[in-house]
Amino acid sequence: MKFFVDTADVGEIRELAATGLLDGVTTNPSLVAKAKRDFKEIIAEVCEAVPGPVSAEVAATDLDGMLREGRALARIAKNVTVKVPLTWDGLKACRTLTAEGTMVNVTLCFSANQALLAAKAGASFISPFVGRLDDAGQDGMELVREIRAIYDNYPDLTTEILAASIRHVTHVKQAAMIGADVVTAPPAVLRALVHHPLTDKGLELFLADWHKTGQRIV
Ligand code: G3P
Repeated sequence: MKFFVDTADVGEIRELAATGLLDGVTTNPSLVAKAKRDFKEIIAEVCEAVPGPVSAEVAATDLDGMLREGRALARIAKNVTVKVPLTWDGLKACRTLTAEGTMVNVTLCFSANQALLAAKAGASFISPFVGRLDDAGQDGMELVREIRAIYDNYPDLTTEILAASIRHVTHVKQAAMIGADVVTAPPAVLRALVHHPLTDKGLELFLADWHKTGQRIV
């Protein structure tokens, strides 16, 4: 399973990339607004820090605009993945940009049928928004399960399921159990994956006993 981080904070991205466990990055207009920096500069820096796919979202909503913006973003670096919304124009843009050799992440997916359309349009990634469905009183992870089942029925569909809008570590575990190809999570959620109170307690006990031996390894 691939781990992407969902942020436009370049400092956070560099720190997580240093673990060697980060496979890519996703951004969105809200995250860029929070970073308060030039969008294309952020994407250029992130693409240099992380060799894997880096999602950069178009702001246009019409086909021509999405193509113009998508091509401009794709020119920044070869690992830019153009993010387009799940609309008819977004799907058309996905087909064209994919045919031009650009990776496309189709975002704002809230139904299995939308995911099927994105796969038919040749998307590299489909982003089901788990947390936002949970917020609306639905089971977001159920959507990931449905998409996995559908894609597995048709091996010619190569779109990767990128579980997005991840809010906590249990979402990560559930997405992995279902077989999502990628999970994109905020930095805090990725950092929290390592923690377990029994790990801390166990380490403390081992160290206390080790000190009693009076030995050194090096
Ligand atoms: O980047 C897309 C998605 O992960 C957004 O998550 O938490 O704003 O619903 P959230």
